[in-house]
Amino acid sequence: MPATEAVRFGRYRIAGPHGPLRRNTQAIPLQPKALAVLWELLLHAGEVVSKEELFAAVWPKTVVTEGAITACLRDLRHALGDDPKVPHYIATVHRIGYRFIAEVTAIPSVANSVPQSDSAWQATAFFVGRQAELERLHGAFAKALCGQRQLVFITGEAGIGKTGLVETLLAQLQQGRDIAGRNPGSIAASLWLAHGQYNEHHGPHEAYMPVLEALGRLCRQSDGEKLVALLRRYAPTWLVQLPSVLSDAEHIALRRKMPGSTRETMLREIVEVFEAAAAEQPLVLVLEDLHWSGIPTLDLLTMLARRRQAARLLVIATFRPVDLIVANHPLKSAKQELVARGAASEMPLGYLTAQAVQAYIEQRFAGRAREFAAAVYRRTEGNPLFMVQVADYLETAHALPTPLEMSALEAAIPSGLRDLIEAQLTRLGKEEQTCLEVASIAGVEFAVASVTAGLPTSADAAETVCEELVRREQFIDARGLAEWPDGTVSGRYGFRHALYREVLYKRVSAARRVRLHSQIAERLAAGYAQRSGEIAAELAMHFEQGGDLKQAMRYRKQAARNALSRNAHGGSNRSPEQRVRSITNAHRHEQRAAEPPQPAGLSHVSTRKSLR
Ligand SMILES: Nc1ncnc2c1ncn2[C@@H]1O[C@H](COP(=O)(O)OP(=O)(O)OP(=O)(O)O)[C@@H](O)[C@H]1O
Ligand SMILES: [Mg+2]
Repeated sequence: MPATEAVRFGRYRIAGPHGPLRRNTQAIPLQPKALAVLWELLLHAGEVVSKEELFAAVWPKTVVTEGAITACLRDLRHALGDDPKVPHYIATVHRIGYRFIAEVTAIPSVANSVPQSDSAWQATAFFVGRQAELERLHGAFAKALCGQRQLVFITGEAGIGKTGLVETLLAQLQQGRDIAGRNPGSIAASLWLAHGQYNEHHGPHEAYMPVLEALGRLCRQSDGEKLVALLRRYAPTWLVQLPSVLSDAEHIALRRKMPGSTRETMLREIVEVFEAAAAEQPLVLVLEDLHWSGIPTLDLLTMLARRRQAARLLVIATFRPVDLIVANHPLKSAKQELVARGAASEMPLGYLTAQAVQAYIEQRFAGRAREFAAAVYRRTEGNPLFMVQVADYLETAHALPTPLEMSALEAAIPSGLRDLIEAQLTRLGKEEQTCLEVASIAGVEFAVASVTAGLPTSADAAETVCEELVRREQFIDARGLAEWPDGTVSGRYGFRHALYREVLYKRVSAARRVRLHSQIAERLAAGYAQRSGEIAAELAMHFEQGGDLKQAMRYRKQAARNALSRNAHGGSNRSPEQRVRSITNAHRHEQRAAEPPQPAGLSHVSTRKSLR
């Protein structure tokens, strides 16, 4: 692997020996030496790297003790959430050194979407789709250039592409390009692009940290002295917190002069600095992941958006709505109020279209695009994060896969993706997790009454759990009511993404799965009583998975009869071949709707049945 390439492993990505290390898109703070150690291990992934080799690579010409390596390893393992006793990433080779044990993928430099330096923005690798959104953002920028300050909230679930969109916009703006790639003027040479990102570790006492970091980066740019001068003039309480842009003497003098700062002073000062900076040259301020921000940032956004004076200011703020709801975050109402007053606009992002996924795959796989594109879209439904993960995974099929291998690849869940969904699941309450696990056994779509059959709680409790998940837009959405012939009425829900169901299904132990399928089968059969033939395919599957082969056979036969009779009524003027094909398809369709997810992997090729 050439040392200049970026590298991806699991949910992590590192841009080079100096980092940054990112989990998904989140930068993880690490000391330079720890990053260098990680890089050295990655360069020799799968091989043992001795302590001597690490000393030579990371501390050349310096004498250090083994404690230095141990400290780096401790930090690295902490950052990666790796347990040295059961390592997923870095294994200790007793008395010798360390070995990086996870799968590592080199990302060609063009695909490395992490900005290489503070001042150079790169569009997201293989960026596709989102043309309407980019047009709107360029429109907002054009208004900002005329002095109409703009605040745009880009919202959507984790991995939907908020950061990707912002990175691509910033790269275009920085190159002075408009949406069509034309170069409309020479604004690039005179534009402030400030970017700050919140993360879950920013506590209340670090309320403004991302804004400070953004300012610090701007100040260190080649034209940063202009901003330092503005900070000196309008915002000394901020400047004193940026020692790296001051000489030691100035920092000490400033600290002596500053009596300490209140929240109000800091707010007033930073707004003044931003406005003064925007008076010199247009300012684009991006604040990412506001679901982890606090009240001070909301005050800042509100003040920036609502002040009346003209300012060449575009503020872009991203957040995940689910996380706001879960945390009962005040940003929800603050955003609503700003939008209602016309001081801000919201841009919710949805999944990518089939064409966009096709374009992505064409860029990545060139000649093999045709067979991969449809598979990736089917598998991911256009969720960008899933798309990237599945494409990474398919990339491991170096030779052109046979159709059987292709379907196995398609059925497998890349480990990074599973970890990602798992991480989202572990943030739910125990009751919610159990309810979803049982729901995954019930089906892609399920009635709460079926789920209750496998839960110790009441139907009301399960219904409340589902309603709450729907309200927070997590994992499932509402699909109306299920009314059974025995008079049972309950909510009907469906998984927002087939992969959620698959991961949940695989969480359930084999023995518990059998029990749950059986309980659900019995409950469904009772609920449909005389009319159980209507859902024969679903019942056949649950009885089969629940171990009752006699009942399974009975309902399989009924399902086949259903398919036949439907065809007899609908297709009398068709040829015999068409009828046979049609019956087979109808039967397959019914089966697919009812079948459980199958275990992944090439060894299961022969038994694989598609969920979709
Ligand atoms: N339009 C796109 N074209 C190609 N790749 C994309 C696109 N949008 C996003 N991606 C890729 O999908 C992955 C997830 O996107 P991104 O990090 O932008 O999501 P996000 O909404 O910012 O998520 P989070 O809430 O976790 O920050 C990234 O690898 C990104 O490069
Ligand atoms: Mg992001």
